[in-house]
Amino acid sequence: MKDQLEALRPQAAARISEAADTAALDAVRVAYLGKKGALTAILKQMGGLSAEERPVIGQLANELRGSLEAMLQERGEQLKAEEVAARLGRETLDITMPGTARPLGHKHPLTIVLDEVKEIFLGMGFSVATGPEVENEYYNFTALNIPEGHSARDEQDTFYTTEGLVLRTATSPVQVRYMERHKPPIRIIAPGRVYRQDTPDATHSPLFHQIEGLVVDEGVTMGHLKATLDQLAKGLFGESTRTRFRPHYFPFTEPSAEVDVSCFRCGGAGCPFCKGEGWVEILGAGMVHPNVLRNGGIDPEKYSGFAFGVGLDRLTLARFRIDDIRLLFENDLRFLGQF
Ligand code: DAH
Repeated sequence: MKDQLEALRPQAAARISEAADTAALDAVRVAYLGKKGALTAILKQMGGLSAEERPVIGQLANELRGSLEAMLQERGEQLKAEEVAARLGRETLDITMPGTARPLGHKHPLTIVLDEVKEIFLGMGFSVATGPEVENEYYNFTALNIPEGHSARDEQDTFYTTEGLVLRTATSPVQVRYMERHKPPIRIIAPGRVYRQDTPDATHSPLFHQIEGLVVDEGVTMGHLKATLDQLAKGLFGESTRTRFRPHYFPFTEPSAEVDVSCFRCGGAGCPFCKGEGWVEILGAGMVHPNVLRNGGIDPEKYSGFAFGVGLDRLTLARFRIDDIRLLFENDLRFLGQF
């Protein structure tokens, strides 16, 4: 029996090292260590051994089982590694290759700048108001103290729809609409689309965007207007930006001003962009005319206010150094993708 056991070792060792894959190796394991395996068969005869022989053979059998198991284990690991290597060789999958990119949209440049403007004003306690784009002549002109015969009312300048209705020529009509429904203190901005009969070119578009501002309260002065617009200029174009007020005329404000900011390209030294001026005009503003306050149901003896209107398209062109307003409306992804 001892000879039988000892003969098993080299025989099994040879078959283990010859096993070509893990399946073949499993078959070898069963052939020796399985229920009907060679080693098991020998052990079953142990009952016929003498009391002296039994522990000797038992120890030998256990030792053989242990070393067969170790050989099986080692060969098993070897085969597994070979199989993995072969599989990796077959399946050449480069996980560092870029995946399929899905085109991801983003904000339109006008929206980027509008969001910045909103952020600046929300920080000063303003809220956002809106009004209709198809407006009646009363809110668009009359309520804003724009007299009959004013050039803004001309059919050459304004899109009239049905009798008495126009595509609003400014965001200013939101002022009176808002005052009619809200008591001071009023602090709003009103962004939106506006329309004028212009032939499109690099600086004109029949559709463009404005952001109106309106503040009404007791004791509001031009100083508040200046400080507010300073905040806007600094927020948009950097802390070193200065503002300059030039007297102007608007029917709905008195006094009125056009407001320039120090040129954000040259810092005020003068360059082709600011035409050597050092200043760039960005908006119109002024103290709300008493007639306009009255039209909004607000007593001009008790309250005062300021208003301003800024061209969002102009701001956006300046901000991103775009030289043609039409690019904003053509929806060309080669252009829009750059922002
Ligand atoms: N409505 C003017 C325009 O379209 C802009 C404007 C100027 C608005 C002065 C205002 C303002 O509120 O006070 O040109």
